[in-house]
Amino acid sequence: MKNRFRDLPVHVVLIGLCLIWLLPTIGLLVTSLRPVQDINESGWWTIFSPPKGHEEYQSLCAPCHGDDGNAISAADLSDPEVVQNYRRSFSLISALERDINGSPHMGDLPVPDEYQAADIAYKLRTLSGIEKRTTFTLNNYIDALTGYRGKSTYREDCEAGTQSLDLYCDFRDLANPRGMGRAFINSLLVAIPSTFLPILFAAFAAYAFSWMEFKGRQWLFALLVGLQVVPLQMTLIPISRLYAQIGLNGTFLGIWLFHTGFGLPYAIYLMRNFLGSLPHEIFESAYLDGASHWTAFYKLAIPLSIPALASLAIFQFLWIWNDLLVALVFLGGQHPVMTYQIGNMVTSLGSGWHLLTAAAFISMALPLLVFFALQRYFVRGMLAGSVKG
Ligand code: HEC
Repeated sequence: MKNRFRDLPVHVVLIGLCLIWLLPTIGLLVTSLRPVQDINESGWWTIFSPPKGHEEYQSLCAPCHGDDGNAISAADLSDPEVVQNYRRSFSLISALERDINGSPHMGDLPVPDEYQAADIAYKLRTLSGIEKRTTFTLNNYIDALTGYRGKSTYREDCEAGTQSLDLYCDFRDLANPRGMGRAFINSLLVAIPSTFLPILFAAFAAYAFSWMEFKGRQWLFALLVGLQVVPLQMTLIPISRLYAQIGLNGTFLGIWLFHTGFGLPYAIYLMRNFLGSLPHEIFESAYLDGASHWTAFYKLAIPLSIPALASLAIFQFLWIWNDLLVALVFLGGQHPVMTYQIGNMVTSLGSGWHLLTAAAFISMALPLLVFFALQRYFVRGMLAGSVKG
């Protein structure tokens, strides 16, 4: 009991920190699920307050018209045909200022001003079902995936059969080069080989550095580790020019090679430290039994270093998935990846950021999945190199 109370302040502070950390992300998530008109009109936190016009309606109109608007049968406010005449604030105000049977419409209540009237008119439209707006929708996600940039939403435009869209209105739209669906595939095409290749080569090299005797081994290893000081940004232009000469610019092969090259030093370093710390006896007895290096590599070294390989894979994958710079330089608009495409979602005038929020979450989905699937290794990976075993 005592202990629990002693930890209380720590827990409160921790929870507070997590909230501060998470709040922007939660805001992004909520925004991505709201209809575009709502996003433009109000902040995401307003989803907790009652819908627009509700309070005004309750205090000014509900006493006579009832909560659902159908208390007076001569003026049924839940009937679209009646409300159709009062869509805007001015038509509504003039109806409210008109006398009914010689006495004021509103009775003792004040006539709403134009702002209140506009909100009430909105409330009447939702009451009668003229305006069908839900609090949450997946439309932003559909629009972002298909790369839809029209005036309404992809769904509405497809149902209305608007032809000016350049879209097929079926699953083929997922391959639209301007959408996130296509970018998702491109990101996968970049990230998977760029994760797999360096780790494969690093495993070979790390094995050689730890268990094969050859001259200059230590020097070569020191050189490799030293190579990590070369900043990636410095090499962009020379490599891009080289690629231009041999025709690798804008190809997946080019970006695979680039990521492999830059992933290798660190991967080799980490793998060598891990393999080198495995007990000598295992390998020596294997060699005594006549095992070749190849057998020792794939029967001993690989199975024993699964945790290191997994954590390396997670880090490499996340780094490539979130990379914008390299993808921008070597792939650009030819094969847009997610990070590139997200930026394209907002126009220069700032509209379209309902798409941006959804696109951000689409691009976060896979890393989150990878993280939760492999989080056991993730924690171990953060300790890799610092703790043995
Ligand atoms: C004091 C009671 C009272 C209040 C308050 C009141 N109304 Fe009415 N309203 C009536 C009555 C009674 C009628 C029916 C008149 C008739 O018989 O045609 C009516 C009719 C209407 C009509 C229909 C006019 C038509 O085309 O037939 C509308 C729209 C309307 N009210 C909107 C509102 C709104 C919006 C508010 C709140 C800002 C409101 N009313 C507040 C009593 C009230």
